Amino acid sequence: MPMLTEWRTGGEGIPGYRALADRLRLLVLDGRLPVDTVLPSERTLAEALQTSRTTTTSAYRLLREAGFAEGSQGAGTWTTLPRSEGRGEAPIWPEHLSGEPDPAGARGDFSSAALEAPAELYPAYQAALAEMPRFLPGNGYVTSGLPLLRDRIAQRYTAAGLPTTPEQILVTNGALQALHLVLSLVMERGDRVLVEHPTYPAAAQAIRTRGGRCVPLPVEAGWDIGRMATLIRQTGAHLAYVMPDFQNPTGRLMTEDDRRELGAMIADTGCRIIVDETMRELDLRTAIPTAQGREGSEPLPMPRPLAGFAPAEHVITLGSASKTFWGGLRIGWVRASQPLIRRLGLARGNEDLGGPLLEQLATAHLLENLDQIKAHRQQLVAGRALALREALAQNLPGWVVPLPQGGISLWCHLPEPRSSHVAAAARSMGVWLTPGPRFGLDGAFEARIRLPFARPSADLVAMTEVLSRAWHAQGRPHTMDDDLTTV
Ligand SMILES: Cc1ncc(COP(=O)(O)O)c(C=O)c1O
Repeated sequence: MPMLTEWRTGGEGIPGYRALADRLRLLVLDGRLPVDTVLPSERTLAEALQTSRTTTTSAYRLLREAGFAEGSQGAGTWTTLPRSEGRGEAPIWPEHLSGEPDPAGARGDFSSAALEAPAELYPAYQAALAEMPRFLPGNGYVTSGLPLLRDRIAQRYTAAGLPTTPEQILVTNGALQALHLVLSLVMERGDRVLVEHPTYPAAAQAIRTRGGRCVPLPVEAGWDIGRMATLIRQTGAHLAYVMPDFQNPTGRLMTEDDRRELGAMIADTGCRIIVDETMRELDLRTAIPTAQGREGSEPLPMPRPLAGFAPAEHVITLGSASKTFWGGLRIGWVRASQPLIRRLGLARGNEDLGGPLLEQLATAHLLENLDQIKAHRQQLVAGRALALREALAQNLPGWVVPLPQGGISLWCHLPEPRSSHVAAAARSMGVWLTPGPRFGLDGAFEARIRLPFARPSADLVAMTEVLSRAWHAQGRPHTMDDDLTTV
């Protein structure tokens, strides 16, 4: 029911059953209502929404006709995806995310916070290829990761003030796989897990699909460690998932004082914490002032990784090459105590015998040039952040758009709770974006939108113009009928 608040905002003159079907369709499409979810009976839904039974019956019929539901009166109704969209879990990524370059920018993409490859990537692959003959006589399996890469990753932590050995690193196929692997070992079905609110949607989904129950910790105004401790005590949660380094989607950085307090709280409560540092290298605190022409300010130091503040057995850190270098590498890792890494390696070997060698070699090369790549990327991304913010100020002056400390997105505050409606309208105009509630639990954040600045500035400006039309199209009917032709 919380996901259906404001369901009538479909626009003037749209019958209630269409507005309701439209909202349910969007919830299925963006994954908030997973496929095969049993919907409430028509009568129950009508009573809960204080609408007529005819409205809910007609809405369900429309959903069935469009392929977003199956079942019948009496037998119950459950969610599906139209055959052309495939079956299984509703896509966490939009269907168009194929890895192919966007044909002449035919579609605007505000849905993915991931950058194009840096110039250093292709040479890194070439260097990796040249080294491959050395590995060919062996069997090629490196289940815990290529020793050279584990070593480079460990060195990077040590240089950041957190002494680390290669045996404390397990290389995975991306941070998301790392998260699933960690959850499979440290979470039981039914466990409560503290998550930041808003949070990274795939993480919340990983926790839920593995039977965990997410407990929200508000972080829009920063981390309140006292509140976190209270929540842990009240709910019995003994696991938390946090992103202290440029939180996705708010772009916030946890202060050193908060890290210290959090570390002490972890020692005190015995809670375990999964720290996702995927965005750590995208620090914009110095790059944004520089891109604004304010030169001369001293670079702000990054606080030490959170694992440096808490007992080693209680912190599990996730990292990724996806944002720093490129998503196509599919390289991530876990940093934890050596015994835990050993257990994770064994668990991983049960279902996946390791990552590809070439990508691991290429990533090891890229890590050699980390400082240079990072500096260039930060400058590039800072310019885009400012261009998007300026375009929003011009086209959507009522939106409040705080500048992030880092990361690749703006977390926009809308003057009205119409995020899902705007996402649906923008999509019908060719621009994909993820509505605010995708980052929340139980329908929260209908008055927020996350806008990544991952594309060149000119694209961002053009996409913002479409977004503005979608926002102002409040009365424009965007209904299931439109979609029947576009899905
Ligand atoms: C916070 C966070 N964690 C993990 C991931 C997934 O990373 P990977 O591509 O390494 O699986 C992302 C990607 O968007 C992310 O934003």
